[in-house]
Amino acid sequence: MNFKNKELVVEFLGFLFLVAQCLCMVEGEIHFYDFVLREKNFTKMCNTESMLVANGSLPGPVIQVHKGDTVYVNVHNEGDYGVTVHWHGIMQPRNPWSDGPEYITQCPIEPGSNFTYEIIFSTEEGTLWWHAHSDWTRASVHGAIIILPTRGSTYPFPKPDEEEIVVLGSLYSGNLNAMLDADIRTGTDLPHSIAYTINGEPGDLCDCSKETTYRWMVDQGKTYLLRVVNAVVAADIFFAISQHNLTVVGMDGHYTKPITTSYITISPGQTMDLLLTANQSLGQYYMAARQFWSQSIQVSDFNQFNTTAILQYRGNYTIPSSPSFPKTLPLYKDVQSALKFTTRLRSLASKEHPINVPLNITTKMFITLSMNDLECRNTTCTAKEGENILAAGLNNISWSNPGIDILLAYYRNISGVYTTDFPDNPPSFFNFTGEDLPTSIALTELGTKVKVLNYNEAVEVVFQGTNLMAGAGIHPMHLHGYSFYVVGIGLGNFENETDPKGFNLVDPPEVNTFEVPKNGWLALRFIANNPGVWFWHCHLDRHMTWGMAGVFIVKNGDTVETSIRQPPAYLPSCRVPTRPRLQMSDGFEGKANESSFILLH
Ligand code: C2O
Ligand code: CU
Repeated sequence: MNFKNKELVVEFLGFLFLVAQCLCMVEGEIHFYDFVLREKNFTKMCNTESMLVANGSLPGPVIQVHKGDTVYVNVHNEGDYGVTVHWHGIMQPRNPWSDGPEYITQCPIEPGSNFTYEIIFSTEEGTLWWHAHSDWTRASVHGAIIILPTRGSTYPFPKPDEEEIVVLGSLYSGNLNAMLDADIRTGTDLPHSIAYTINGEPGDLCDCSKETTYRWMVDQGKTYLLRVVNAVVAADIFFAISQHNLTVVGMDGHYTKPITTSYITISPGQTMDLLLTANQSLGQYYMAARQFWSQSIQVSDFNQFNTTAILQYRGNYTIPSSPSFPKTLPLYKDVQSALKFTTRLRSLASKEHPINVPLNITTKMFITLSMNDLECRNTTCTAKEGENILAAGLNNISWSNPGIDILLAYYRNISGVYTTDFPDNPPSFFNFTGEDLPTSIALTELGTKVKVLNYNEAVEVVFQGTNLMAGAGIHPMHLHGYSFYVVGIGLGNFENETDPKGFNLVDPPEVNTFEVPKNGWLALRFIANNPGVWFWHCHLDRHMTWGMAGVFIVKNGDTVETSIRQPPAYLPSCRVPTRPRLQMSDGFEGKANESSFILLH
C-alpha cells in the first residue's frame, strides 16, 4: 500500500469513527414542524369569536415521535401580541433554552417574528402536550404530543387495535387576553370560561353545539388507547364514558400500574393514557366531562356545563334517540371521588420501566400554598394606596415576572433581575387548615425569589395547602424540567414526625403535575440532575396569575455533559416590550421594579 492509500484508509477510518459517534449521540430521529400562530374566527355556542390558534386548528397540531427523538418546531407569531410555547412534561435535558415560559427561560416571540424550539425527548413515553406559556394564550394555543415506545420495542400492555386523542379545553367569550388585562388592571375577578370542550367542541348539551359534537367511531370488540390531555385553563375535570370502564396505564409520559375505573379525575396539565374495550352493545354513548370544584362549597357560580362527545359503534343498528350519559361521572363538588381516584395511582415500576426514588434527601423544603392579601403599594393598583388586594403565593411570596428572562440573567450574570432567597419554610407555622384564620398571617409580598439547587441534590418538597382567606382548594402543582415522585399525600397538616413513615418509596407515581388535596399536603422527591432554570407553579392559571409560582435554578455539574448547553444563536429580544402585561418592568436592565407589576383581584 503506498503512502497515499494509507492516508485514505486513515481518513476513511476517521470518517467511520465520526459516523459511529453521531449515531450513538443521536439515538432517535429528527422531526421538523412549523406552527403558524394566527387569529381565526370560530363559531361556538351561538357566538363567533376570534381566537389565536396554531395552523388554523383547535386543538392545535399533534406532534408524534418515538422515545428519544428530537423535534424542531419553528413557531411563527402572526398574532397581535408576544407569545411563547412550552413543551409540557418534556424534561429537555440541559436545554432550558427551549422550555418556553415567558420571562423565565425566554422573552416573548414578538408579532411578525419566529423562534425555533429544539425539543429533546429522553425518558418520556406516552402522552404529553404543548401549550402557549404567555398569560392565558394557552386557552386556544395547545395540542397533544404522542411519544411512542422506541423503535423495535412496544407498550408494557397488549398492543391496542387503535388510538384516539381527547383534548379537554375551555371556551371563553370575548378576547381572553384583553379581558385578562382589563381584569388585572381594574381589580375585578379574572375571566371565567363559558363552557368546557372535548376536542374543541362543547357538545350536544350546550347551545348551538349539537351539529358539531365530536364523534369517536369504534368497532365492537376492539381495544383502544385513549390519550387524554387536560388543557383546560383553570379547572380540574371529571371524565367518564357511559357504560365503559377505563383502565389507566400511563400518566404524564410514564407508565402506571393498570387501574380500572369508571371515571377519572384529571387536573390541568395532566395527561393520561387509558385503555378502553368497545365491549357494549352497538349504540351511542356519551363521553362527558365536568368541572371538579374544590373551593368554597357556598360558591355556585362556576362553570356548570357538562361537555360531551359521542362514542359511536360502527354497524347497522337503529340509533337510539339520545346517547346514554355516564352515571358514574362524579358531581361538581365531590371531593371524596376526586381523592379516591388520585390516591390509587402507582408507577408501573417494572424491570423494563424501573423507577429511582431518591432515598437520601439533601434538600428539604416545606412550602405553603395560599390565597393571600397583598398590600396595594403602586400607582397601577386601582385599590387605594395601602388597601389590600387578593393574591396567591408560596410561603407568602407572590411570584413577579422580571423584565428579562431569568435564564439569560443567570447565564450572563446580569444582576438585579432576581434574588436567590426563596425561603425553605413559611414565615410562620400555624394550623394551616383551620377555620377562620386571621388575615394578618395571610399577607404576601411580591418577589422574584428563586431557589438555587446544587447539581444532583436529592430534593424533597412538601406542599401544604392552607385555608388562608377561606381559600382552601386543590392546587395542581407543576414542575418544569423534571418529573417527580409523589411519595406522600394526605389531609390536614403535614406532621413531619409521623407522616414520612407512610411514604411510598416503592412505586410512587412519576409525574410532572399533581394535585395537592384541599386542606391537605403532598410530598414529592426528585434528583436535581437537569441543570437549568425551571419554572414551577399551580397549573390553575388563575392562581398562577395571582402569583402561585416559583423558580428553581439548578447549577451545572463538573463536566460539560452535566452543564447547560450553549444558548441557540438567536433568542427573542427582551429589549422591546410587546405590551405592558404581567411583567414588572420593561427595560433591558430588568431592574426589579414592583411599581409596574400589576396584580389585582
Ligand atoms: Cu403546562 Cu408551566 O406549564
Ligand atoms: Cu392553585
